[in-house]
Amino acid sequence: MVLRRREFLRTTAGLAGLGWVSRYSSPLFAQKVEARIEVLLDEPLGIISPNIYGHFIENLSGVIYDGVWVGRDSKILNINGVRKELIDEMHKIRPAIVRFPGGCFADSYNWRDGIGPPENRPRRTNFWHGGERPEAPNAHRYDPNQFGTNEFVQFCRAVGAEPYLAANLRSLPAEAFYRWVEYCNSPTGSTTLADERAAAGFKDPFNVRYWGVGNESWGCGGNFTAQEYAIEYRRFTAWLPCYTHPCNELNLIASGPNDHEWEWTEGFLEEIVGKGKDQLRGIYGLALHHYAWNLSRGKTSDWEKGKGNALDFDRVDWYELLHQGESLEGMISGHWERMGKFDPEHRIKLVVDEWGPWYRPGSELTPGDQLEQLPTMRDAVFSGMTLDIFNRHPEKVGIACCAQLINCLNSLYLAHEDKFCITPVGHVFAMYAAHQAGQSLRTEFSAPAINYDRDGKQARFWGLKGSASLHGKELVVTAVNPSVNGQVATQVIVHGAKINSGEATILSSADIRAHNTFEERGMVSPTIEPLKVNGGSVIFPIPGASVVKLRLQI
Ligand code: AHR
Repeated sequence: MVLRRREFLRTTAGLAGLGWVSRYSSPLFAQKVEARIEVLLDEPLGIISPNIYGHFIENLSGVIYDGVWVGRDSKILNINGVRKELIDEMHKIRPAIVRFPGGCFADSYNWRDGIGPPENRPRRTNFWHGGERPEAPNAHRYDPNQFGTNEFVQFCRAVGAEPYLAANLRSLPAEAFYRWVEYCNSPTGSTTLADERAAAGFKDPFNVRYWGVGNESWGCGGNFTAQEYAIEYRRFTAWLPCYTHPCNELNLIASGPNDHEWEWTEGFLEEIVGKGKDQLRGIYGLALHHYAWNLSRGKTSDWEKGKGNALDFDRVDWYELLHQGESLEGMISGHWERMGKFDPEHRIKLVVDEWGPWYRPGSELTPGDQLEQLPTMRDAVFSGMTLDIFNRHPEKVGIACCAQLINCLNSLYLAHEDKFCITPVGHVFAMYAAHQAGQSLRTEFSAPAINYDRDGKQARFWGLKGSASLHGKELVVTAVNPSVNGQVATQVIVHGAKINSGEATILSSADIRAHNTFEERGMVSPTIEPLKVNGGSVIFPIPGASVVKLRLQI
């Protein structure tokens, strides 16, 4: 039945001339329906974990010092040293989880440097210091350790997120990991480290549940082979302190593959289960990282040469980036399938704890900020598309963290001194927060494919994709229209219910390069419109190059 419906959906001719009347009654628009979104109420896919709406803050250039942390004595409004405007904005995105301190930085970090009286904390050479430019402040080169475990947990509490800490596997012994867990989680008065925590004002345990065991251990995190890493992973996690009965408080996340590197997933799990199936028990997730960076249109796979420009791009670059981003869906399915060979019950989830586009330097709002880029409408569509992918695979993806929250790659916010702005990506997260904890539903999107010229050759990209989730009587549907050619008149149908009313939130701009800056903070921001319901369905023009959210009462 589903197949037949899919067949029908492919023939967009069947969509024309449905005889509806809409308030979008410009003669042109009223002529035909070009696309359909069909929500299948009786095909639930699973609950969308709020944790897939997670974030990542690394001690990297302007992310922590300037972005998150301004200091308690700062003239910039702050709550316990953290930029207040950031906290206020984050409430709108309902961030379920935040990962810290890296990234590559994690495997050079000694958590002990970041606890105790702030004035006694040492200054250390930051992992990223080599890439800092002369105009960068010293705090970016030499870590002042003012934002450590206590401040991070306090920040998480202020924004309502769970902390996710990444342990150092490359340059510290396993004992340091053990002690960090002890510092965070041992009960009041129980250990010397619990006393140290209490002396800093944190009597109650932090109860940190999510722990990364290294980061990108195939690269900056130790340059291991999958087998070598699996052995280290086993050693680091063989015995960690636990303060609950039964002992199930720790969710350990193993460093996983980059992109399509199936060999890492298979090699790691093969080595782990080689010692016995029970070895899988402690692993909550396998981290997968995917950055979309190669905009060379097939000319090179060189990391430096292949990157594109964040602001100066054409229509082909637009689709090129989206192509790279959409490949994440195949990676999720491909790694999942391979994980199933070793873990047939699929106890281990995928944790996509770094994702986003990565451009060449030059668009940063704060001169000298390494890896900072200025997100445009292209990144908004990329981000909506990515969150929709996660929503469509709720059984596979347990956590996802956008890289990174502020002053970095696919940032939601940019800040410098007392200046702050929300990027188009930040608006997408605020829109998509409505999906959290909903029941993901299979949804069919049918729209004419986009044909375009890619350096003299015909290329194609799909016309419309998205996701849907049910929250009692409310249905949340999000979609991206990647077409730079204009709107697509779309009919929304819910199989198994009638739509009674609804509203649309639309993020779009006539300029595909549109972005916000400190001076022009509102160039890209969403608008909300009521939807006209006709006979239980809705017909709605989804603008070109846009991200939309529909809230439908059924
Ligand atoms: O997000 C920037 C860097 O990208 C991270 O530190 C690292 O894990 C990845 O390679």
